Amino acid sequence: MNILHQKTDITANTKKWQQAGETVCLVPTMGNIHSGHLALIAKARQTASRVIVSIYVNPTQFGAGEDFDHYPRTLDSDCAAIEASGGCDAIYTPASMYEDGHATSIVPGGVATPMEGEARPHFFTGVATVVLKLFTHIPADFAIFGEKDFQQLEVIRQMVRDLDLPVQILAHSTIREADGLALSSRNHYLSPADRKLAPLLYAEMQVTATQIKDGAPVEAALEKARNRLTEAGFGAIDYFDLRRADDLQICRFAAPHSRIFAAVWLGSTRLIDNHPL
Ligand code: PAJ
Repeated sequence: MNILHQKTDITANTKKWQQAGETVCLVPTMGNIHSGHLALIAKARQTASRVIVSIYVNPTQFGAGEDFDHYPRTLDSDCAAIEASGGCDAIYTPASMYEDGHATSIVPGGVATPMEGEARPHFFTGVATVVLKLFTHIPADFAIFGEKDFQQLEVIRQMVRDLDLPVQILAHSTIREADGLALSSRNHYLSPADRKLAPLLYAEMQVTATQIKDGAPVEAALEKARNRLTEAGFGAIDYFDLRRADDLQICRFAAPHSRIFAAVWLGSTRLIDNHPL
């Protein structure tokens, strides 16, 4: 696997492959590779003849007091994990994506506004800006994102539509631990006791989805689940809502394609997850 740090090198590689008639799929990550990322990479291999994985902990999507300084940077073991699972054609890991004096951002509206947009107002501006820059450095035919971060996936789709970007966005379903906890690079922040409690979030999403499908009043079912999470020992609940999957607006009945979206605190860790009805 080729590990490249310079944007000119990764752009040249991408174009060389495309000029030879090959297709290229990008899998953007912040590293600390786990089975969720590896599933995206496996799908990328089925999608295109060349796969590029980017690994970059993007400072602009972290707010003040968030975990940018502590975010796990594990490039050697990341490369080994990717290699062991079948590899990719290139890993792009730039030292920085921002020149001194960088002063231009993508500020997404629409689907970026609720949920994470309210809880972390800087977040999607940072994500959209870095992903657009990645698409420029790597003019890929396809890019794959995980449904684990469903709102992020929708924000990227919206940006691609709105700005006519020549890349096709693909999604991969959420990969979970055997007990239901969605894999995340942040799970290792959980204390042993909180790690035991964490799968209750997915269990409550499943139970509530079933109740709503079976006709329970939506807001009452959601409120009971929120109360059970609080009683079990979860901290603040930023949101635990039913929303439409296409525009992420609140949904008060069991609409097709609606999903439960949750962001809850457990100790000092914020878990986010979602589950289709
Ligand atoms: P990161 O958290 O490293 O995630 C990289 C990709 O892996 C995202 O598309 C995310 O949705 C997906 N992913 C993470 N956990 C997953 C799981 N359990 N199952 C399936 N997919 C999962 O998301 C980011 O990085 C960044 O915001 C990024 C898009 C790279 C921009 O900086």
